[in-house]
Amino acid sequence: MKLFEPKFWENEWEKAIQSTNNKTSEEKIEMWNSRADNFDKNVSSSSGQERLKETINFLDKYGVLDQGPKTILDLGCGPGHYAIEFARRGHKVYAMDPAEKMIDKLNEKLGNENKEVANKIIPLVDDWFKLDIEEKGYNQKFDLVFASMCPAIHDAKNLQKVIDASKKYCFISRFAGEKFRKSISYLLEKHLGRQDVSHMDIIYPLNWLYSKGYKPELHFDSWSRLHKQPKEEAKNEIQQMLGMFLTVDDEVKNDIEDYVEKHQEEGYLTEEKGATAGMVLFDTEGKCIKYNKK
Ligand SMILES: C[S@@+](CC[C@H](N)C(=O)[O-])C[C@H]1O[C@@H](n2cnc3c(N)ncnc32)[C@H](O)[C@@H]1O
Repeated sequence: MKLFEPKFWENEWEKAIQSTNNKTSEEKIEMWNSRADNFDKNVSSSSGQERLKETINFLDKYGVLDQGPKTILDLGCGPGHYAIEFARRGHKVYAMDPAEKMIDKLNEKLGNENKEVANKIIPLVDDWFKLDIEEKGYNQKFDLVFASMCPAIHDAKNLQKVIDASKKYCFISRFAGEKFRKSISYLLEKHLGRQDVSHMDIIYPLNWLYSKGYKPELHFDSWSRLHKQPKEEAKNEIQQMLGMFLTVDDEVKNDIEDYVEKHQEEGYLTEEKGATAGMVLFDTEGKCIKYNKK
């Protein structure tokens, strides 16, 4: 039966990728560089902190961070808020991201951190797609490969690399269902003909893993918040977000301008924004993961 064959999910995943207007790797990294400031603000906000807590609680439920110190790869670490949390708990963390500006944010934070914690983190500017794990000596090196909302989990091949790099646990999270933010949905619908981009959904890696014989534990976390921004900042951010999915030409820029001008009040754009993340934790030997009985 097809649904039980990894190839089926690989093909479905590939079809979803193909239906998305994909940018080159360099363009994507540049986009992440341009988002570093805003992303850092978002993860430091109260909803960002809630998301971190929810993720760590999910790992704690299975005792993943208990017996240490462990060696962790934080893949697509962004500004490094998870890497720092792992290091504070005594673990050694390889914090990897291809966007230099994200790693700069992490380094800034490490400058203000306790030395003992800072020394546990190895920041790395690297692109998972290009990295040869054999050559780097990363084969089964890590107790946990942690990839939170990371585009490196682009397809089955790159997820397989995550599995190969781990000797015990892997954690990945992706979007689950649609994100909501009216401006983005409206502009994606207008320029792409649909509101959301499904190849980043957890449905593909989750089912691929299950069909490969892994026993993925699944957890969902939804968040939403009222997002109030000065209108020029909002225009920039909307442009950065749309840039992930389509080419932001003059027509798109004009539409962003029109949208924000029409919806702004006293120089601010206020929008409800939110999403659900699907988190998956699994054991690389295909074993069931037991609850932490503590
Ligand atoms: C949505 S952010 C997630 C950051 C952090 N893990 C979190 O959950 O808050 C995605 C991060 O993945 C990084 N990334 C994008 N492509 C990547 C790749 N090919 N290899 C490794 N990281 C990548 C981006 O630069 C960005 O910092």
